[in-house]
Amino acid sequence: MAKDFSTMEDSNRSSNPSIHDVSDPARRQVLRGGLGLAVTGLLAPLAGCAGIGAAGGPLLGVKSVPAGTADAVRVPEGYSVQVIAAWGEPAGLSGEDHAFRFDAGNSAAQQETQLGMHHDGIHFFRHPLTPAASTAGLLVMNHEYADDGLLHTDGMKTWNAQKVRKAQAAHGVSVIEVEQKNGRWEVVRPSPWARRITAYTPMAVGGPAAGHALLRTAADPSGRRVLGTLNNCGSGITPWGTYLTCEENFIFYFRGPDQPDAHQARWGLRRGDPVGYRWHEHDERFDAARHPNEPNRFGWVVEIDPYDASSAPVKRTALGRAAHEGATVAVTKDRRAVIYMGEDARFEYIYKFVTRDAIKPAAPGLSAARANAELLDHGTLYVARFDADGKGRWLPLVQGQGPLTAANGFADQGEVLVKSRQASDLLGGTKMDRPEWIDIDRQGWVYCTLTNNSNRGGPNMPGTDPANPRANNTMGHIIRWKEAGDFDGLAFEWNHFVLAGDPKLERADAKGNVGGDAFACPDGLWTDARGVLWIQTDMSTSAMGRGDLVNLGNNAMLAADPRTGEIRRFLVGPVGCEVTGATATPDGRTMFVNIQHPGESPSERSDPDNPRRFSNWPDQRPDGRPRSATVVIRKNDGGVIGT
Ligand code: FEO
Ligand code: CA
Ligand code: CA
Repeated sequence: MAKDFSTMEDSNRSSNPSIHDVSDPARRQVLRGGLGLAVTGLLAPLAGCAGIGAAGGPLLGVKSVPAGTADAVRVPEGYSVQVIAAWGEPAGLSGEDHAFRFDAGNSAAQQETQLGMHHDGIHFFRHPLTPAASTAGLLVMNHEYADDGLLHTDGMKTWNAQKVRKAQAAHGVSVIEVEQKNGRWEVVRPSPWARRITAYTPMAVGGPAAGHALLRTAADPSGRRVLGTLNNCGSGITPWGTYLTCEENFIFYFRGPDQPDAHQARWGLRRGDPVGYRWHEHDERFDAARHPNEPNRFGWVVEIDPYDASSAPVKRTALGRAAHEGATVAVTKDRRAVIYMGEDARFEYIYKFVTRDAIKPAAPGLSAARANAELLDHGTLYVARFDADGKGRWLPLVQGQGPLTAANGFADQGEVLVKSRQASDLLGGTKMDRPEWIDIDRQGWVYCTLTNNSNRGGPNMPGTDPANPRANNTMGHIIRWKEAGDFDGLAFEWNHFVLAGDPKLERADAKGNVGGDAFACPDGLWTDARGVLWIQTDMSTSAMGRGDLVNLGNNAMLAADPRTGEIRRFLVGPVGCEVTGATATPDGRTMFVNIQHPGESPSERSDPDNPRRFSNWPDQRPDGRPRSATVVIRKNDGGVIGT
């Protein structure tokens, strides 16, 4: 999240106290044949990392990179960095190769065929046909939002329908085919799997809120066909080979009515103008005064089958509506899926969803994705309550149970899911310090980054609680829990993995307790196949380099040992960027990391007359402009990353 719009969002005024890749599709055998792809070998064991770095060396085999402010990606000695898939590069759609124009002169139609802006969550899927699992594959990635100051030649000085369309085309998700040739990675063009999903791609709706009155609009009286996905932040993958993209700060795209009602206010819809993205001026569905149900059609986890470019993405309403950061899947012993999700807004919640049914295997002529096409439509959603005794409970968001009755405004399960914030308020979920990504270690601990919350303990704001123990929490922390029994357990024990901070600071609450390199504002989180917990930071541009963040330089990625708590800075990003999203090839020898919004302006958007003011990464051309991109990290000796 770049602009930190989310930190403006603390609409929670309720009074309650405040394996990721357990079975990475990329590590499974994918069979050739027929339409779609049969994915077999479901459900690799949790510790399915045999063969990668199994030589017995220390988990953290890398030397720390010092904090820094260079306009470059810096990694430890012995590692190399290659940039691929920058914003505007052709995605490889057949016959649609439009080169990026450094004056931002590409049209909306061209942007629709190019990589979007502001890369975020990412995953490497095994190639559908090529047996060499670690030298070719599909990269699927989110494009969280657009900076209109960089996206158009004259920024927002003029504003029209084509600019709105271009901005919408720069959002969403990309599927690209990549391969390694002579040690370098490149995008394969054209590719039958290449795909751009944008803020106007038609998609289906599944689960209890599909067709609900709250999702019906004039343009879609069925409430089952939504145009687009947006503010796609974190991501997840499923054991059946699909990608989960998460709609985060969707509310900021909508113009509110003059007097937002209680539901709209709880979701942060603000009164009237201004609206930063200005889409509503040329696309009236983003005017919530005229189309009050349109915002209800966003804030979902969206499932995409990357192996079938013709498949419609599906918004999975059973998982609840939220400013979704990510979606991380674990699997119970009886093969049901458990999806962990954080809602990144101040004083919002941590959720998990447990499927009703077990994951089905692929069958001849039936891909795993198709065999499980409705798995995420049936199950139970829970919100987390962290208690003072180090224990916690998962509270079900089920209509008719507890306070979730018609009398309290929840007529049916669809309404509970659309109004999940209100339901969680009534249930007494714990209001957290902006839950971001979640991942799971090899011992079954589930980790969630809580990026920061400077409003904690402020006037008329919730005070500290055991799970969110610091007032004016500028540095953030990482909480972790272990379920009682299996991942579907209703109780858990919890503790803090780390309170982020900088011991050099005077302010006691900003010192943290990091065992290793200082950092702040943890956001991205990813456990690799060896069990290293990778932490990515998102210090906001307006706060970076000052105050409590004065010593920390640019945003970074750090490697943590979940067993010892040791943390080492591994990568430092260019000026003004956020480091977000990481994935690797099955052999662990290539890592892909997304660099979002290099050169971000501390003001609302970049100055089109001075696009290189803060950064010119990665191109460093005299006529360039900063571009989000994916960086490929390799060891010069070809070894496993992190060893
Ligand atoms: Fe899009 Fe919460 O970061
Ligand atoms: Ca994030
Ligand atoms: Ca963030």
